[in-house]
Amino acid sequence: MPLPLPKSIDETSNLLASADYVADRSLATVLYLSLKMQRPLFLEGEAGVGKTEIAKVLASSLDRPLIRLQCYEGLDISSAVYEWNYAAQMVDIRMREASGDSNRGAMEDDVFSDRFLIRRPILQALEQVDGRAPVLLIDELDRTDEAFEAFLLEVLSDFQVTIPELGTIKAQEPPIVIITTNRTREIHDALKRRCLYHWVDYPDAERELDIVRLKVPGAGAALSREVVDYVQHLRTLELFKNPGIAETLDWATALMELDKVALDPQAVSDTLGVILKYQDDIASIQDSQSADILREIQSEARREGAKAGASAAGA
Ligand SMILES: Nc1ncnc2c1ncn2[C@@H]1O[C@H](COP(=O)(O)OP(=O)(O)OP(=O)(O)O)[C@@H](O)[C@H]1O
Ligand SMILES: [Mg+2]
Repeated sequence: MPLPLPKSIDETSNLLASADYVADRSLATVLYLSLKMQRPLFLEGEAGVGKTEIAKVLASSLDRPLIRLQCYEGLDISSAVYEWNYAAQMVDIRMREASGDSNRGAMEDDVFSDRFLIRRPILQALEQVDGRAPVLLIDELDRTDEAFEAFLLEVLSDFQVTIPELGTIKAQEPPIVIITTNRTREIHDALKRRCLYHWVDYPDAERELDIVRLKVPGAGAALSREVVDYVQHLRTLELFKNPGIAETLDWATALMELDKVALDPQAVSDTLGVILKYQDDIASIQDSQSADILREIQSEARREGAKAGASAAGA
């Protein structure tokens, strides 16, 4: 039996937290509703903000299989839904011919039967595994073309696909569908209308620090705080590509591996390539700003520390 779905927004937050995913209230709300209403969840956001991770975490915390459809330009039905195993069909036909079997109708029925059907992710997702409807992750939908998007409309509204030789296959229980996009192009309204929508934003400093504590527990408290403050500051600049949460986690891990307990100008300069992936961004930070940002976040942290100390003494 699959684990029961969460019955409230709080339960949804707790479910995500149980798999080390720190969600804000708005994400927990829309996720709760999409589970409750059996509607696909359409997640849009910058790179590395935790969109794909939501599907993985849902599958593991609800103990359901995760079926992933990675989208790319030119993705078609034979890679996404089903394909006939032509080679096996040919072998079967030849064997029948060799054995003198000439019943054409029976041969056709048999060759276009379940046995020769190769199930791709969408078809797999419509079929339950051990009585558990799976989580279907349609990742980076913006990379496909519009023809595929149009095809998805049928799947997402009726949770069924039609195979001309076999008929219509319909899910007994709809899979939990998570669609992600990086917004490299707009997705058609008709598809969005079938989903609940959520923009996954960069986290605020507190939530990002919680994520670092959870995911990189070996990094010291001061280092984690400074890494988060530094990245948060970078996101306020006009960079070509902002660092995501993935980069924050990588940076904390890298600095920990280098035995750092706090940021220093040299360490930042040596490791900028962990958080910034465009030379222009690295050059613009390295030239002048890096030391200034570091000074600023460290003096801000000292001010915060003094304030906290004063209020604790006054309490
Ligand atoms: N809220 C969160 N709680 C815990 N970990 C998170 C959270 N958000 C992101 N992460 C971590 O950040 C990393 C990147 O997340 P993910 O791959 O889901 O990003 P994405 O939005 O799908 O990025 P892309 O658009 O590049 O595919 C993962 O390792 C994930 O564990
Ligand atoms: Mg992703």
